[in-house]
Amino acid sequence: MKRIILILSVAILAITVLAFAAEDKKTELRPAQKIMQVRAAGLTAMNKNLGAGKLEAIAKDADDLAAETMKTGNKLSNPLAKEITLAISMYAKEASAAAAKSDAATVKAKLGEIKGKCGECHVKIRDKK
Ligand code: HEC
Repeated sequence: MKRIILILSVAILAITVLAFAAEDKKTELRPAQKIMQVRAAGLTAMNKNLGAGKLEAIAKDADDLAAETMKTGNKLSNPLAKEITLAISMYAKEASAAAAKSDAATVKAKLGEIKGKCGECHVKIRDKK
């Protein structure tokens, strides 16, 4: 009898530990984190394509970023956050147009402006919390 209780106790302990481990692993990203990670991946891809001279590949990523920041920006209530996010949308649209014209210098300048705006929000809004 003691033996059965011991075995059951160990089994219950093991199940508890496993359940907590599983819970930990599926900690979902917050919606803002998902959006940010897509933005960061898009910027990385665009910079890589710029370096490789693949300007035509930049237009799509820039269009995606422009559309997402337009949608997200229009829903923001903080005026500064909205202004910065919509500015990113504008620069992304300009980057896309420049990429379509194979104007690498302008693409580079616009990607720089975009990166600056990302940083501006992180410093002025995100990191203040
Ligand atoms: C209007 C404000 C704002 C703008 C613009 C902005 N961010 Fe963010 N960013 C945030 C906030 C707020 C967080 C924190 C989100 C959280 O942890 O829930 C964040 C977090 C991040 C993270 C960390 C995500 C993670 O996994 O925790 C990355 C990467 C990031 N931003 C990249 C970017 C890039 C790239 C851009 C520009 C294309 C950008 N952000 C523009 C506000 C902004």
